[in-house]
Amino acid sequence: MRWVGFLSMPAAVQAQAFSMNMLRFGCSQLSIDRIDPLVEPGNVPSAHVHQIVGGDAFNASMPMADIAQLATCTTCSFDQDFSNYWTANLYFRARNGSFKRVPQMVNEVIGPANAGITVYYTAPGPNTVTAFKPGFRMFTGDVMRRTPTNLGRRVQSCYRCYDGPNFQGNSMAPCFDPQRDTEHFPTKPCPGGIRSSVIFPICWDGKNLDTPDHKSHVAHPVDGPASFALVDGRCPQSHPVKIPQVHYEIVWDTRQFNNRNEWPTDGSQPFVLSTGDPTGYAQHGDYVFGWKDNTLQHAMDNRCFGATCRGLTTQDFSKANRCSVKPAVREDNDGWFSELPGGHHVM
Ligand SMILES: *[C@@H]1O[C@H](CO)[C@@H](O)[C@H](O)[C@H]1NC(C)=O
Ligand SMILES: *[C@@H]1O[C@H](CO)[C@@H](O)[C@H](O)[C@H]1NC(C)=O
Repeated sequence: MRWVGFLSMPAAVQAQAFSMNMLRFGCSQLSIDRIDPLVEPGNVPSAHVHQIVGGDAFNASMPMADIAQLATCTTCSFDQDFSNYWTANLYFRARNGSFKRVPQMVNEVIGPANAGITVYYTAPGPNTVTAFKPGFRMFTGDVMRRTPTNLGRRVQSCYRCYDGPNFQGNSMAPCFDPQRDTEHFPTKPCPGGIRSSVIFPICWDGKNLDTPDHKSHVAHPVDGPASFALVDGRCPQSHPVKIPQVHYEIVWDTRQFNNRNEWPTDGSQPFVLSTGDPTGYAQHGDYVFGWKDNTLQHAMDNRCFGATCRGLTTQDFSKANRCSVKPAVREDNDGWFSELPGGHHVM
């Protein structure tokens, strides 16, 4: 574990963190596209733009099947992981009202991935969780939210303003530092970029691979959502099966947008999600399970930590970066736009 300042964490948290089983690995960009097989299956284009990583079985109408059998490659570092992970994109809104997509950069430690997402799977210890089943999918977050949850260290969505290059400011576990992690976008320019963290629930009903709202088959522990650093809590009777905690980290490379002279004259910050949210509270994540056979269960039961795991193999990022899916919606993602793709109003 290489969080700078980790040793400043409370002793109980350190002890817990060192007994955790935690995979943490990079996944390069698979595509940027306006499709959403989870929330809007078959819709081309879907409502807003996403950035997607993982296996190449991803498409607008991918079946609820064992996608590890359908995929031929993955952008994730573990060869066995054909899951798909995606989130909304971030845009900069200039003073003249034009928008530009904020690119992503590679997260600390993880290596030469191309943009993408750093993915975590965490369990309190070996043999404490049940891995997902083929076809399992879920959604976390609320695209309509414009207010904080005020869950303190249990927040499931947060931002970290990196103070300087090379991810300075990356001390303490994600979403665990009330001084640095906010549920809203940072209010000042971030010289090293902005990190997004998105955390999923850890309890499952044990029956449904999905539900109409893509949320009700999973739940938080009875005492509230599990923080990232202490993945624990008792699951409710309705959702008795403890599953790995899935967690995404995305680092938005805001450096080209840090000139205050281009920021809004009213003092507000200029970034918006592709859904039109200018607050950041509506950050969300989509997940489709796709680990081959029982490899995820194996990793969660065998004291795996970080980006390597005995019994699993990793691929070189030069290979991972060659895996991609052609966008279903052919549109420019990199110019200046007079409106957000899909015409979302900022509100
Ligand atoms: C999506 O993928 C599935 C299987 O991998 C295939 O059957 C289906 O035709 C694909 N759909 C689209 C829209 O490409
Ligand atoms: C709007 O502002 C941006 C940033 O200053 C600039 O690059 C872009 O060309 C402008 N667009 C229009 C239509 O003036």
